Amino acid sequence: MSESILRVDEVSVSFGGLRAVEGVSFEAHRCSVTSVIGPNGAGKSTLFNLISGAIRPQSGRVVFDGRDITGLPPNRICRMGLARSFQISNLFFDLTVQENLRLACQVNEPGRRLLLPLAFSKEVDAKVDALLDRVALESQRMNLVGNLSHGEQRRLEIAVALGSEPGMLLLDEPTQGMSHGDTEDTKRTIQDLSRSVAVLLVEHDIELVMGISDWVVVMHQGKKLAEGDPDTVRANRAVREAYLGGG
Ligand SMILES: Nc1ncnc2c1ncn2[C@@H]1O[C@H](COP(=O)(O)OP(=O)(O)OP(=O)(O)O)[C@@H](O)[C@H]1O
Ligand SMILES: [Mg+2]
Repeated sequence: MSESILRVDEVSVSFGGLRAVEGVSFEAHRCSVTSVIGPNGAGKSTLFNLISGAIRPQSGRVVFDGRDITGLPPNRICRMGLARSFQISNLFFDLTVQENLRLACQVNEPGRRLLLPLAFSKEVDAKVDALLDRVALESQRMNLVGNLSHGEQRRLEIAVALGSEPGMLLLDEPTQGMSHGDTEDTKRTIQDLSRSVAVLLVEHDIELVMGISDWVVVMHQGKKLAEGDPDTVRANRAVREAYLGGG
């Protein structure tokens, strides 16, 4: 198996009396897809928030790429190479696909470049081309984001997150509300991405999860119920009873 990039060690957080995440530990590896599944309210998004810095854990540690990132602010964690795509859209709807990606890439350019007109940076142009290719949106380059399908917008959000050239990408329900065709395209995009970037995925589409994940972590009522490769998790009795159904 490839090298570990993320280690979550006994992290916990409570909201009032509710233990949203309790003593959860797992590891994710480079060039692989690690998925977190579980019923509504299991604590999946809260776990993502603890990893990306949106919420501080009350106990436990998060180590990314060999560095302790526990409690660091989200922008610092992002600059260290851990990016997340947002469930709430982060795009400029009145700009084109290309303009959105140029902005996403330019944020990453060395200081002075930010003062130059967008059209001046050849490196940014090359990065935009590569991102369009990675999420299969070349044909939409000049289209306004507001005109894209829901699925295309979600894939563009993935590309925007990739603009910071992360080592790991957190995706929270990337296929939520998508048509079957868009879901298939997104599945292929995630599979392609995982050759170069570690992907941590929260997703309710079990067939998609089982089809593309190298490792699956199952959460239930704030705790880790089980983890393993897809076949092991699918066969786990406690997982079937709590989540997959069918006994
Ligand atoms: N900021 C918050 N303040 C109070 N309670 C919260 C907060 N965020 C989450 N919760 C609660 O923590 C629990 C876990 O929520 P979370 O959103 O992590 O679940 P989830 O597994 O992502 O669910 P879903 O599949 O519906 O997205 C839920 O009971 C939720 O109501
Ligand atoms: Mg959630």
